[in-house]
Amino acid sequence: MINCRLCLAERSELALDLGSTPLANALLDSRDQVQQKFPLQLYFCNKCMNLQLGVCVDPDTLYRHYLYVTPTSTTLAQHYRALYKFLEDGNYLSSSSAVLEIGSNSGELLKFLSPHVSSVIGVDPAKNVATIAIDRGIPTVVDFFNKKSAQEVCKDFGNVDVIIARHCFAHNADPSQMLDGACTLLTEQGAMVIENAYSVDTIQNNEFDQVYHEHMYYYSLHSLQALLERHGFSLVDAMTSHIHGGSFVAVAKKTSDRKLGKSAGLQRLLERELDVLSLKGVMEFADRSLRIIKGLREAITEISAQGKIIYSYGATAKGNTLLNVCGLDYNHIKYCVDSTDLKQGKFLPGSEIEIVSEDFCYENPPDYFLLTAWNYAEEIMEKFIEKSSAPVTFIVPFPEITFFRKNYTN
Ligand code: TYD
Repeated sequence: MINCRLCLAERSELALDLGSTPLANALLDSRDQVQQKFPLQLYFCNKCMNLQLGVCVDPDTLYRHYLYVTPTSTTLAQHYRALYKFLEDGNYLSSSSAVLEIGSNSGELLKFLSPHVSSVIGVDPAKNVATIAIDRGIPTVVDFFNKKSAQEVCKDFGNVDVIIARHCFAHNADPSQMLDGACTLLTEQGAMVIENAYSVDTIQNNEFDQVYHEHMYYYSLHSLQALLERHGFSLVDAMTSHIHGGSFVAVAKKTSDRKLGKSAGLQRLLERELDVLSLKGVMEFADRSLRIIKGLREAITEISAQGKIIYSYGATAKGNTLLNVCGLDYNHIKYCVDSTDLKQGKFLPGSEIEIVSEDFCYENPPDYFLLTAWNYAEEIMEKFIEKSSAPVTFIVPFPEITFFRKNYTN
């Protein structure tokens, strides 16, 4: 048993052990580069329903030079519209709002929001990616978001009405630091908006590949609530989304705001968690994960032994967990296709598969794609059909291993 870092109870049990793997976004410049491995073990807290990693890697090692750039994607653009509508309908955001995004990356969301609100500002520690946002006209502070950087932002830009943190509360061993910063910067009636992969979906869809070192927490709304309450915030609303394999968007307010209550949608989600997130449920998820790992290893080994050419599609962090825990590498999978310029020409950590462009795969189509960016399945398959007439089979690993052939029905 270890301590839960969200509710502080001493009740976290080992649920899934994926061994040791290299950092999922630490792409290699060459195959002979030295690679350090770190343990990947998932613990479940029986009190607040939090899943967390046992060991958290130091943030400077993880984030100072970051190769994750938000892809240009129709799926994401739809999600930004749904997120905006949810916040506007709930009166959390309006045309007079000052908005700050934590972990703003290349400024994609802020660029979308900018015409709808009064001002936007991003905060992101990765200089190489923040520079892309600045070049696109999105003011961005290059730093981790915490009380100190929030005070600096407050001095230069004043308080903000909405703080949005998409997929970064899982990425920080001590999310309290972000909440302390939010407490400093947010107006009294302001809204703290937290989007994260939802552990209910992770478990129900068997997405063990979401487990990698950057994901230090696998939040439920119960565990988020436990964390928020320790910092003077209260959950008031939430919606769910299919984005990134299933996510929630939660809204919290400072408890000093008198108008607090929980929306009907939030209450329903909290009730459903009681059915899904038990120690038994998590252990069954671990068993299903081990079955998929074995099944995928066997299927890919057999296809490659038949002399068929396999590429993976998406140099994703989760794809690296998938490949490494399945024991698959460049002997089985010839190339990895990815649209991100910064990733092309590099090699995946552990599996050492070379990353190539999408144009390369239209010109040199394989027999099979292992879809490691399965969260963009529809978009990627449609794009491939449009660009190539090659009879390729897509292998989608979740929720169960499925083969999609030519007309892309399984
Ligand atoms: P993402 O799903 O955000 O992965 P993770 O959080 O696991 O790292 O990343 C998607 C990756 O897929 C990204 O590197 C870009 C790539 N991609 C394509 O190559 N083509 C596409 O059409 C899309 C939508 C994404």
